[in-house]
Amino acid sequence: TSFAAHVANQFNSYETDRQMDSKQTIYATSNGVPMPHPYEAQRAGESGPLLLQDFHLIDLISHFDRERIPERVVHAKGSGAHGFFECTNPADDLTCLDIWSAKGKRCPVTVRFSTVGGEAGSHDCARDPRGFAVKFRTEEGNWDLVANNTPVFFLRDPAKFPHFIHTQKRDPSTHLTHADDSTMFWDYLSQNPESIHQVMILMGDRGIPDGFRFMHGYSGHSLKLVKKNGDWVYCQIHMKSMQGTKFLTQEESATKSPDHSQKDLYEAIQRGDYPKWSVEIQTMTPKQAEEVWAKQGINVFDLTHVWPQKQFPLRKVGEFTLNENAVNYFAEVEQAAFSPSHMPAGIEPSADPVLQSRLFSYPDTHRHRVGANYQQLPVNAARTAFKYGNFQRDGPMAFYNQGGRANYLSSIDPIQFRQRTIDYDKTHGHFQGHAITFLSQIRPEDFNAPRALWEKVWDEPARQRFIKNVTGKMEVCRDKEVLKRQITIFREVSDDIAQRLEKATGIKGYDGIKNMKFNGTHNGMSLDPGI
Ligand code: HEM
Repeated sequence: TSFAAHVANQFNSYETDRQMDSKQTIYATSNGVPMPHPYEAQRAGESGPLLLQDFHLIDLISHFDRERIPERVVHAKGSGAHGFFECTNPADDLTCLDIWSAKGKRCPVTVRFSTVGGEAGSHDCARDPRGFAVKFRTEEGNWDLVANNTPVFFLRDPAKFPHFIHTQKRDPSTHLTHADDSTMFWDYLSQNPESIHQVMILMGDRGIPDGFRFMHGYSGHSLKLVKKNGDWVYCQIHMKSMQGTKFLTQEESATKSPDHSQKDLYEAIQRGDYPKWSVEIQTMTPKQAEEVWAKQGINVFDLTHVWPQKQFPLRKVGEFTLNENAVNYFAEVEQAAFSPSHMPAGIEPSADPVLQSRLFSYPDTHRHRVGANYQQLPVNAARTAFKYGNFQRDGPMAFYNQGGRANYLSSIDPIQFRQRTIDYDKTHGHFQGHAITFLSQIRPEDFNAPRALWEKVWDEPARQRFIKNVTGKMEVCRDKEVLKRQITIFREVSDDIAQRLEKATGIKGYDGIKNMKFNGTHNGMSLDPGI
């Protein structure tokens, strides 16, 4: 009869809930009162109005009214699965990250793949980057690697992100997406030339992955690997698909089901064909970072650029395997909340301003999208080797409210502390100078990697497909000036691209971007900065 006995008997673990079986379940209202049938409604007489006393019907409908939570503001359409990570080649010479400390060390993972711009019901085969988020449940706390399938990104200034994303969404007036009206899409890109590397990838053969199993993932940002003594290196993390990569052409994508990637991933795991990724890192010392900036114009805080692999070779640390589908998609995938700021000791953010903004943005949106206690949900909760607690209490749906333990830093019921193990004096960089407010400036180096794609990486058929994809997208743009600007940015990559686009669209671009003014970007290439 005690409350303790009630809790012990009635509250199931999440695992028991996942295995619920209709054969052993009696239909009841939410307060546990059995009902003879779900299709019942109490009414005043044979054709009279419904009764307010009918808790069963109101219980049903009012819960239904609240079924939706906000979809993710970006990356709304996605697929997830569970599995495990295993360390194959420890990196303890570089970091005290527990999960990379010993060969054979394992932890459970949950992965969510996604498209970026579309809504929750949008097509899996959109020409769009793909999200690739991994939650490593390590014994030292959860680590989320919130990555994309491309090594670079459209921008290096976080203030541009909401603007950029709005142009990938529906037009506020026509309510059309860029499939039918690409004016906003090209307007943004043609004002922000630092996007060109990602635009080339997006419009090229790697623009539409053939399902999530066949794509790589990249941290994109530089992160920091830190040792106990405070020594650190910058690092980039790559997740290489051990299935290889596969992509769809524009034509092929049109023949696929809207849930192509979901179906492919789910069915592969159901039949035991478990997808795997190899986790590999590039590293760079702070001194090397200064050198690549001085000599090669590569800024480690700028994710529109990659680190050359010949100079900074990949080194493998482990593999992860996805061997378990979610039993309940909403509980285990939709409510999953990944954040680049969820980092255990041994890995830290770099000063990349886009990453810095993301550290704030994700938990902020989680509190809005899932609720203040999102970390308590089974899919998000940490499973550490030790019991952890803190002074966060209450709020909506507090389920793990830390019992009767003191809710303040008490001397009567003191919480335990672990000594800091890392020498923070060394890991934190030394920053000085004035506050700088404008982060983007176009430099000639911004066009090197896209030019290499066009001139060295792609063969002629790949170039032709690229021109066709870009032309197709330009056909639905309402503004000629926007296209002139975009063609000019392409000319900065290669005159060949600009000429082919001019021929295909009948629109003549400008000679080059040197004297152009961009409303989004400080054009360091011109004499007049234009801002
Ligand atoms: C999702 C913000 C850049 C990868 C999201 C979400 C927000 C967001 C608000 C929704 C999260 C949720 O509802 O749980 C931003 C901001 C950015 C930025 C403000 C830049 C200033 C990036 C970059 C990458 C990235 C550069 C990859 C390198 C992802 C992924 C997801 C996501 C993979 C989906 C996570 C999931 O599956 O739940 N982003 N993002 N984002 N973002 Fe970003």
